[in-house]
Amino acid sequence: MNAAKNILEVIGNTPLVLSHSVASDVDSDIYLKLEYVNPGSSVKDRPALQIVEDAEKSGELEPGGTIVEATSGNTGMGLAMAAAVKGYDCIFVMPDKMSDEKIKALRAFGARVVVCPTAVEPDDPRSYYSVARRLAEETPGGFLANQYHNPSNPRAHYLDTGPELWEQTGGEIDVFVATMGTGGTISGTAKYLKEQNPELTVVGVDPIGSIYYDYFKTGKITEAHSYLVEGFGEDIIPSTMHFDYVDEVVRVSDKECFRYTRRLVREEGIFAGGSSGAVICAAIKYARRLDEKLNIIALLPDSGARYLSKIFDDDWMRENGFLEDRWGDATISDILVNKEGAQTVFTTTTGETVADVIERMKVHGISQLPVIDDGEVVGLINESDVLDHLLGDGAHGDTIDTLVETSFAVVEPSDRVGVIGDLFGDGRVLLVIDGGELAGIITKIDFIDFVTNQL
Ligand SMILES: Cc1ncc(COP(=O)(O)O)c(C=O)c1O
Repeated sequence: MNAAKNILEVIGNTPLVLSHSVASDVDSDIYLKLEYVNPGSSVKDRPALQIVEDAEKSGELEPGGTIVEATSGNTGMGLAMAAAVKGYDCIFVMPDKMSDEKIKALRAFGARVVVCPTAVEPDDPRSYYSVARRLAEETPGGFLANQYHNPSNPRAHYLDTGPELWEQTGGEIDVFVATMGTGGTISGTAKYLKEQNPELTVVGVDPIGSIYYDYFKTGKITEAHSYLVEGFGEDIIPSTMHFDYVDEVVRVSDKECFRYTRRLVREEGIFAGGSSGAVICAAIKYARRLDEKLNIIALLPDSGARYLSKIFDDDWMRENGFLEDRWGDATISDILVNKEGAQTVFTTTTGETVADVIERMKVHGISQLPVIDDGEVVGLINESDVLDHLLGDGAHGDTIDTLVETSFAVVEPSDRVGVIGDLFGDGRVLLVIDGGELAGIITKIDFIDFVTNQL
């Protein structure tokens, strides 16, 4: 029987796959190290196990103890897995920007998860670093895994990821590209690889908003700003981040990270997370600067499954401005301009009769009228309401007041055309209000006209 004794034995030995589509416009070959194939779905299984095993050896973690950690999720997953097999309890402290999926996954392992604010200084007592430290001290048998300062973190990659890559590539690595979070992955792997080949180039990836890029370029610690991509970039310099092994740092934006993440799965079937999009994006940027064909290894840290409600959700992407709007910069005004007779908006008012409305619709060749009451739009009346009224017991002389519908949505002339698709649901008509005044009306047929013209 070729079976592992437990889940911890199958950590590592992850596949390396040549990128054939996303990176096809550069001469160099970019190979992707798929760390999501680890049993906890990320690269962090490796340091998590190393941290637990080293703490057991040193006596810092005793039987029945509690592992406490400040983690953005993936290290927690690795620690929770090790804890499950080895019989420890776990408490994880996470910043509040982390995805729900990550929090729920940790709870699935029976861990306690404490969520802390992101927007506080690292030394603030509410920061997730401080809270984790306090919980480890206060919990009997508590052991702080301390991935930001625990040498077992980079050591795992020195002992494991580095040798694995060297063997897998037969030593044919020119460039190694990795994100920098705690720095464990890049520092440990790079140390091993550079010991084998000092000529090898190591490229770190940093999100805009993190302090690493400025620190690498100037040696100065600048002010961090928030960003949405998860798992890498920092607002402190952890002692596990060894810049001595880093030759270059490439900066990426949230938008670049997310769009490359989506391209990886759609074009190559590689379902990885946002930091993986960052890595392939940075590898491509670096490769574009080269005038020779090199072998570039890009380490993809985790799985896409944890980002379904963010990176892979079109609404979230659009709300955050990461999706190119299909209609570009076109606005509601552009639709109105194209619309014949849009300059005049015919209306009716409450108290008018059905006969008045029929007459106005006939004269102007329109099938619906906004209804105004005391200067405000209160609804719409359309030809099918009128017809239903007459086919029922209604008379021409009745007022329209009971026929007024409120199935409309309001837009402003400056709104992007992209909002229309969602607003047209349930047969609504769009009323364009400009500075409180009714400026136009957009029906489905107006939108169809606009789309037809665009095509
Ligand atoms: C999704 C993701 N990407 C990148 C990293 C960065 O790895 P490291 O902490 O080894 O620098 C992490 C670390 O937790 C991560 O969870």
